[in-house]
Amino acid sequence: MRFIFRPPAEHAAGLLSLPWDQPLEDWTDERLLEVAHRGISRHVVRFVEADGHVYALKEIDERLARREYRLLGRLEELGMPAVSALGVCVERPTVAGEDGGGTPQDAVLVTRFLDYSMSYRYVFSHGHTQRPTVQLIDAMVELLVRLHLAGLFWGDCSLSNTLFRPDAGGIAAYLVDAETAELHPSLTAGQRGFDIDYAAERVGGELFDLQAGGLLPDDVDPVEVAGELPRRYQALWEELTREELLQPDEQRYRVAERVDRINELGFDVDEIELKTTDDGVRLRVRTQVAETGRHRNRLYALTGLEVTENQARRLLNDLTSYRGYLEQKEGRSVPETVAGHRWRAEVYDKVMARIPESLADRLEPAEIFHEVLEHRWFLSERAGKDVGTTAAAKAYIDSVLPHTPSTLTLPGGDPLPR
Ligand SMILES: Nc1ncnc2c1ncn2[C@@H]1O[C@H](COP(=O)(O)OP(=O)(O)OP(=O)(O)O)[C@@H](O)[C@H]1O
Ligand SMILES: [Mg+2]
Repeated sequence: MRFIFRPPAEHAAGLLSLPWDQPLEDWTDERLLEVAHRGISRHVVRFVEADGHVYALKEIDERLARREYRLLGRLEELGMPAVSALGVCVERPTVAGEDGGGTPQDAVLVTRFLDYSMSYRYVFSHGHTQRPTVQLIDAMVELLVRLHLAGLFWGDCSLSNTLFRPDAGGIAAYLVDAETAELHPSLTAGQRGFDIDYAAERVGGELFDLQAGGLLPDDVDPVEVAGELPRRYQALWEELTREELLQPDEQRYRVAERVDRINELGFDVDEIELKTTDDGVRLRVRTQVAETGRHRNRLYALTGLEVTENQARRLLNDLTSYRGYLEQKEGRSVPETVAGHRWRAEVYDKVMARIPESLADRLEPAEIFHEVLEHRWFLSERAGKDVGTTAAAKAYIDSVLPHTPSTLTLPGGDPLPR
């Protein structure tokens, strides 16, 4: 048996004592976990906790396992929203068959469990959002566009092969299954078209399944929603990649406008190419896809917090208003870096310190903070005055967070001891 792990793999040591020589389906180890309503899969997929981290294990043909492991590694280098591969276990011993012969065992691909993630079935069964279908489709479209811009042909885009994570009131999507994916320098319209048509077909089928199980809201028509996917994809792709014809005098502001719009959509511009033509200057905007959001970087520089672009935008707004409050209270100007440190210590960390350990697995810390801000707005509206972050955090943690279910449990349904 051999294990191939990608450094840093210090956490992998705890995994080595698992019963790798036995079929994954037969494992009874106490470190195994259950994931509520996980996606539908052909392979045996199980989850384990080792050294405080959770991993997903998938038993799969060795050639495919190695391929998926390599590809997920490259997606991670590119900063793509996808699960992160830790390693593969190959050359496992044969298991004795009923006829006395041995059957060679498949390899096991180990990925890091995407923290706080939900499958689409979980989103629908827990009513996480008011309009789950629209949000899921938008998140998937954004994911597909991002992958396509990076040159990834997925070949198996579906709701089951996507994971979702709360993202400052919205939902962000991540690729979870890369078995069929291929990375190219860039994709042809045909390759992109295949992915989109295939995704629409699969999503339609998956929504019909939800409907049959009574999980789809009555007013959602699977065919209509599935048809929406290619339309939304085309609209976003067009916005990001279209070439524009500009007159020389409008160049400057139109370029700035275009870059702003692309940033607003959550994408970054790598390079701007301006070509002269007989009919004016043709503007060509090439978009970069690496997840290097402006807000994300700024929040990280100011506070050391690593969050998504949408969460960062939200948290920075709060930081700015805290800075204003400090300046007013202290009657002097407070530099942004100072305000960043103080906001982190006096506001953010204080809210986090209030979260009891038993509820820490419900939502990502930055997402809890976002929810506290929402709750503050809601309570302040009701009270007709600002209730403040501390009171809002207390009320949220006492009365809302305990009702947010955990997606990971021990077999039998008990919550994870953390
Ligand atoms: N790293 C991970 N983090 C969280 N959930 C995961 C992870 N890996 C797998 N899952 C869950 O397990 C499910 C099955 O995984 P996956 O799609 O890789 O299996 P599969 O058998 O290859 O699927 P398919 O039938 O599409 O080939 C996913 O839908 C997802 O819900
Ligand atoms: Mg799958």
